[in-house]
Amino acid sequence: MIFLKQAQAQCSLKEWEFVQKMPVDENGLTNPYHGISYEGFLETALPEMMAFAEGKQLPDGYVPETFFFLWDNDMIVGQFRLRHYLCESLSTGAGHIGYFIANNCRGKGYGTAGLRLTLEEAHRIVPDEEIYLRVNEDNPASLHVMLNNGGRVVAEHNGKLFVRIPNPGKGRYPSKTEAKSLLSDGGKCNPGPWINHSKTAAHCAEKIALYSGLCPEKAYVLGLLHDIGRKFGKRHLGHVSDGYSYMMELGYPDAARICLTHSFNEMQIEGYVGNFDTTEAETTLIRTKLKETKPDDYDLLIQLCDAISGSDGVMDILDRMNDVKRRYGHYDQNKWNRNLELKTLFERRMKLDLYAAVEKDQFHP
Ligand SMILES: [Fe+2]
Repeated sequence: MIFLKQAQAQCSLKEWEFVQKMPVDENGLTNPYHGISYEGFLETALPEMMAFAEGKQLPDGYVPETFFFLWDNDMIVGQFRLRHYLCESLSTGAGHIGYFIANNCRGKGYGTAGLRLTLEEAHRIVPDEEIYLRVNEDNPASLHVMLNNGGRVVAEHNGKLFVRIPNPGKGRYPSKTEAKSLLSDGGKCNPGPWINHSKTAAHCAEKIALYSGLCPEKAYVLGLLHDIGRKFGKRHLGHVSDGYSYMMELGYPDAARICLTHSFNEMQIEGYVGNFDTTEAETTLIRTKLKETKPDDYDLLIQLCDAISGSDGVMDILDRMNDVKRRYGHYDQNKWNRNLELKTLFERRMKLDLYAAVEKDQFHP
């Protein structure tokens, strides 16, 4: 199975070995970590890669960049780097994505598969209308990888070809800054513990995403807005349809989807814990949309985060479910079991204890 994983401590030995195979510079893709010791990799290179993905510790003029490794089962075959947006030097230079495939793995379709997976990530992260790539004229293999993924050559200059790939994901969820202002606005309309609960969910989602190969920014934003329907007053099931309609009106279908899916970890309206206080039209909307939606990683992630996020911080999942049960008088057993499954699923994926990953005892909203 071929998949991308963000650079992370759990895979550090293989990541370090791979980075040693990458030259310092090949076709413009630089590798500052070539020749570094394993200890040095753990102490400086890996933390730096992880920080860059979060937009932290960036040298002047750098934009946030996520380092992915392309895996074929338990072997790393390539590295893909995604710059989250363009600055002037990137827009006239290397563009959004750079990649390297190990010499002995070339000509086997890894480049095409890896770029396809990186584009899926880019669709969630990059706000620009097109994904920019650049390739040397004398590198037809890499050009083919781009063309195989829908690229078209738009310019040629100094031995370089400039390639563009449409970005269908553009603007499917708001930026972090806008999401924070939407939540603060929601808090003014309907103050309550849901604001800190949402901030906790955002924090958890960002942390889990970081260790699971998902986009931390997207996870944060979706966590922050999952309950945004509460802006419109104290409703139970109604907050789901209110949030969905609000986000759709603003043109953010990915955020709208989370408003809908976060309350139904079995993807059925019947499992809802709370009052069915929706109009017939709202109930039909929720039922129909749930049926149409196949849950993706972000749906599952926010369902889990909702189940561990209290208004004072991160809670033990059992304490949180018992708290909800006490407040509402019941808790669907299948939903309860599914939440525990989600915990196991992400812990396996992260190779980390859930509460350690989200820094349960240190975080305060
Ligand atoms: Fe929630």
